[in-house]
Amino acid sequence: MAHPTTTGVVVVAAASIATVLSFLYTNYRSKPCSTTTPKKKPRNGLIDAIGNTPLIRINSISDATGCEILGKAEFLNPGGSVKDRVAVKIIQEALESDELAQGGVVTEGSAGSTAISLATVAPAYGCKCHVVIPDDVAIEKSQILEALGATVERVRPVSITHTDHYVNVARRRALEANEIASKQRKSKQTDAKDVEQINGYTSEGGKQSSKFSSDCKGGFFADQFENLANFRSHYEGTGPEIWEQTGGKLDAFIAAAGTGGTIAGISKFLKEKNPNIKCFLIDPPGSGLFNKVTRGVMYTKEEAEGRRLKNPFDTVTEGIGINRLTQNFMMAELDGAFRGTDMEAVEMSRFLLKNDGLFVGSSSAMNCVGAVRVAQSIGPGHTIVTILCDSGMRHLSKFYDTQYLSQHGLTPSATGLEFVGLG
Ligand SMILES: Cc1ncc(COP(=O)(O)O)c(C=O)c1O
Repeated sequence: MAHPTTTGVVVVAAASIATVLSFLYTNYRSKPCSTTTPKKKPRNGLIDAIGNTPLIRINSISDATGCEILGKAEFLNPGGSVKDRVAVKIIQEALESDELAQGGVVTEGSAGSTAISLATVAPAYGCKCHVVIPDDVAIEKSQILEALGATVERVRPVSITHTDHYVNVARRRALEANEIASKQRKSKQTDAKDVEQINGYTSEGGKQSSKFSSDCKGGFFADQFENLANFRSHYEGTGPEIWEQTGGKLDAFIAAAGTGGTIAGISKFLKEKNPNIKCFLIDPPGSGLFNKVTRGVMYTKEEAEGRRLKNPFDTVTEGIGINRLTQNFMMAELDGAFRGTDMEAVEMSRFLLKNDGLFVGSSSAMNCVGAVRVAQSIGPGHTIVTILCDSGMRHLSKFYDTQYLSQHGLTPSATGLEFVGLG
């Protein structure tokens, strides 16, 4: 039996050898990584964590087409979508131009990703967020927004031409918030008692709208469709990132459009860098943009969005497709357009999940359908970039719901890529 002291020495020596071996092993294993990947600095707060998303080679469709198909992983933004960039730019520009005061409220009429991004980002700027949505939108959407600290107003669905359309109500709410702030400023300059004697209320604005408190610092309507901060967020951010991440070696870019900010900002930036890069739109059913790009005519009189009461798009894809020309889309520089079907988008989402482990939303799936269309059109050996806008998590109640899809005749059944003509 060994002496206790000897045992202790042996244990310490063994432990030291194990530590050294472990260090060498870890060091050896981590070396290739640490020499090729520069150490990333911590991001400075939430805003700094937005953007600079990875560009992912989508192996399955790249291998099947002979092209490098790269997806910009925007679902990795903190607010879960490409719209985080837009929310940041809209708020930053509004603060810089003094159209939005510190502590003010950003209003938006949106049931989708932009509202979630605005609600996510606003507190980081010390601002508030008020969202107006149609009352037929899934209740989870308002629950998410409220959980993020936004106030949510549900209104009845009416045409965009109606003053009570949710977008128009959101615009009005910003004005009301400004009126309250302005009256508040004036009342501070006057004796509060006098104001009470004149108006009966300390703040008339507070009486007009119960949506905002009397100490409201004013409002700003985000207006994602017409506000060119949306375009600029991609022209100054997403576009340059794609250029850098591909080393300028890309042949084509394709995306679907909702507001048009993404496709416009990226296409304009890439074309300025290299006019030979081909930029394309992929358009879902019910949208007029395909016609606009390919024939210069947006829609027939019957299809005009102003005539529709609700559900303007006959598609399961969300956030993309539109029947009016927005300021943002008008900035796009496009070489052509493709049409995509709902069935193709559903099948593509399941194919990507099964083959690449990518769980993406409906617009991302449609974008990948578009990327395959471009590959088929320009042939193998090219690099094609598209956008993975958000994750499938946001699409559980429709796009990833078996019953919903079956009711709409969209049950996926493909075993490979036959749905886009690749056997
Ligand atoms: C999930 C999703 N994907 C794509 C888009 C379209 O992007 P853009 O509005 O920049 O055209 C949107 C727009 O709301 C969206 O919500």
